[in-house]
Amino acid sequence: MTPNAPSIEPLAKDLLSLSQLSRDEISQMLDTASELKRDYGPFRTALRDKTMVMLFEKPSLRTRVSFEVGFTKLGGSAIYLDHQHNRLGERESIGDYARNLERWVEVIVARTFEHDTLVQLAEAASIPVINALSDMYHPCQALADALTLREHFPDLERIKLAYLGDGNNVCHSLMLIAAKLGFDITVITPQGFAPNSKIVALAHEIANDTDCVITLTSDASAAAGHHAIYTDTWVSMGDETEAAQRQAQFAAYQVTESVMAMAAKNAIFMHCLPAHRGHEVVSEVIDSPQSVVFDQAENRMHAQNAVLLHMLAGNCAPQHCDDRSPEHAGEIVPG
Ligand code: CP
Ligand code: NVA
Repeated sequence: MTPNAPSIEPLAKDLLSLSQLSRDEISQMLDTASELKRDYGPFRTALRDKTMVMLFEKPSLRTRVSFEVGFTKLGGSAIYLDHQHNRLGERESIGDYARNLERWVEVIVARTFEHDTLVQLAEAASIPVINALSDMYHPCQALADALTLREHFPDLERIKLAYLGDGNNVCHSLMLIAAKLGFDITVITPQGFAPNSKIVALAHEIANDTDCVITLTSDASAAAGHHAIYTDTWVSMGDETEAAQRQAQFAAYQVTESVMAMAAKNAIFMHCLPAHRGHEVVSEVIDSPQSVVFDQAENRMHAQNAVLLHMLAGNCAPQHCDDRSPEHAGEIVPG
C-alpha cells in the first residue's frame, strides 16, 4: 500500500455471515469501499504478491468477475476453480482441500451449495475464507447493497426497505445487515416461503441494539411507503425442481409499476441479479430510472475489495509449516 493509504483495521479470520461483523466493522468497510470507488490509486499495490482462489460449485457472473477484477486492481492475482461438476468433498475431504490451498494462496473465496461446506473449509484453513454465496447467506451482496443504499440515502437509519419474494440467502443477509446498521426491513413472502426462523430470531436479537424494525408478512401491500423495493429470483440455484409450481405461488409478489407507485416518492428498485424479467420483476421497473441494479453490481467489487483489504491487513502471509510448529522450524531430525 502507498504511504497515503488510509489505515485498515483487521477483521475476524473469515466472512461466512454478516453476524461475524460488528456494526462498526460494517460501517468501516462501507467507508473503505466508498474510498476505493473514488480512487484506487493509494491501494494499487496493497495486495501485491497475494493470490486468491475462487472456487464455485454454482454458476456466477457478478461474483466471479467482481472478485477477480477487484483483487487484480489491488495488485494481487486470482485463480478460478470450477466445481460445478464435482462438488467439494467428492475427490478428497474438504479439510484436506483447505490444507493444500493454504500452502499456496492467501485467501479462499467460495460459492457452495451447503453452508456447512464453507464452515468446514474455514475450520480447516488457516487462511481467510469468504462466502461468495451459500444456501443460507450472501454477505458480499448485502454489503454491496448497503453501499448502494447509503449512496442514495446517507441517513440510512431513517429508511425502510421492503423485500418481496422468497425468504432465501439474499433475504437472510439483507435482514442481518438491516439489523446491524439500523434500517427497517419488511420481508414479504408467500405463505411457506418465509426466511429461516433461526436467522429471523438472530436478526431480531441484533436489531434490539439498533432500533431496526423487522416485519414479516405475506401481504404484498405492506411494501407501501418503503424507500427501497428489493426482489430476487423466486427459484434459487439448487431449488430448480420446484420452479414450475413456484410461478403461481409467487405471482402476487411480482414487482410491478403499481408496487413502485405505492412505495415512497423517489423509492429505488433493487435486485441482486440475475433477474428473471416477467417473473419477480417486470422490465418496466428494472429498466426504469428508479432501478439501481447495475450500481449494486458495480458496488460488489468495491465492497468485496474493502473486505479483502480489512481481512488481509496484517495477515497477508500464509501460515506456512514453520508458523505451525515454531519449535521445529529449521530443525533437521537425525536419520
Ligand atoms: N448477484 C450475484 O451474486 O450474481 P452472480 O450469481 O452472477 O454472481
Ligand atoms: N438467491 C439467488 C441469488 C443469486 C445471486 C440464488 O441463490 O440463486
